[in-house]
Amino acid sequence: MTSLFDLSQKHILVTGSNAGIGLQIARGLAQHGAHVILNGRNESKLQGAAEALRKEGLSVSEARFDLTQYARTTTGPYTAAKGGLKMLTKAMCADWARFNIQVNAIGPGYFITEMTQILADDPKFDGWVKQRTPAARWGIPSELIGAAVFLSSDASSFVDGQIIYVDGGMSAAL
Ligand SMILES: NC(=O)c1ccc[n+]([C@@H]2O[C@H](COP(=O)([O-])OP(=O)(O)OC[C@H]3O[C@@H](n4cnc5c(N)ncnc54)[C@H](OP(=O)(O)O)[C@@H]3O)[C@@H](O)[C@H]2O)c1
Repeated sequence: MTSLFDLSQKHILVTGSNAGIGLQIARGLAQHGAHVILNGRNESKLQGAAEALRKEGLSVSEARFDLTQYARTTTGPYTAAKGGLKMLTKAMCADWARFNIQVNAIGPGYFITEMTQILADDPKFDGWVKQRTPAARWGIPSELIGAAVFLSSDASSFVDGQIIYVDGGMSAAL
């Protein structure tokens, strides 16, 4: 019997995936059978990430491009705001669902990556995150894999226009 979460027939492009959250999500999707296309702007980071995943026996290829080149001038600034992304997810779902294209999003809380390491090293900011997050800690990027596999697999075939928050309860305690 095929698992609902099986991704072996899928080719998945993970944008911004030569480091940080994107790389962990790419790794997790590939571990669930997908062929993953890694993306980023920096060629050597991209090659390094692809090599590391291949050494783990995972199926990956690379596509170096700057994602912002694909943003229309009107949508770029709009989508830069996380609130805008939330509404964009809903709008894209409304437009595209009839073409059998699902649009969902993952809303991460605070996760330790290269980008946020400087904040995690700041005792004041670190204390604020721990106090503000009900789980009282930072997330680790691999904790986003479950939501990404769910949204990429048949297990979510009728889930559309949703944001799944993976945030240690932060959004529940606003
Ligand atoms: N870390 C958190 O706590 C957290 C929480 C909520 C949301 N987020 C969001 O999640 C995303 C990733 O965060 P992160 O912490 O994983 O950051 P990160 O460690 O800095 O990784 C960012 C990744 O995106 C790629 N990238 C950046 N600009 C790009 C562009 N224009 N086109 C294509 N690829 C691009 C980078 O590679 P190149 O430099 O080679 O392009 C890198 O692979 C960001 O949008 C961030 O705002 C992060």
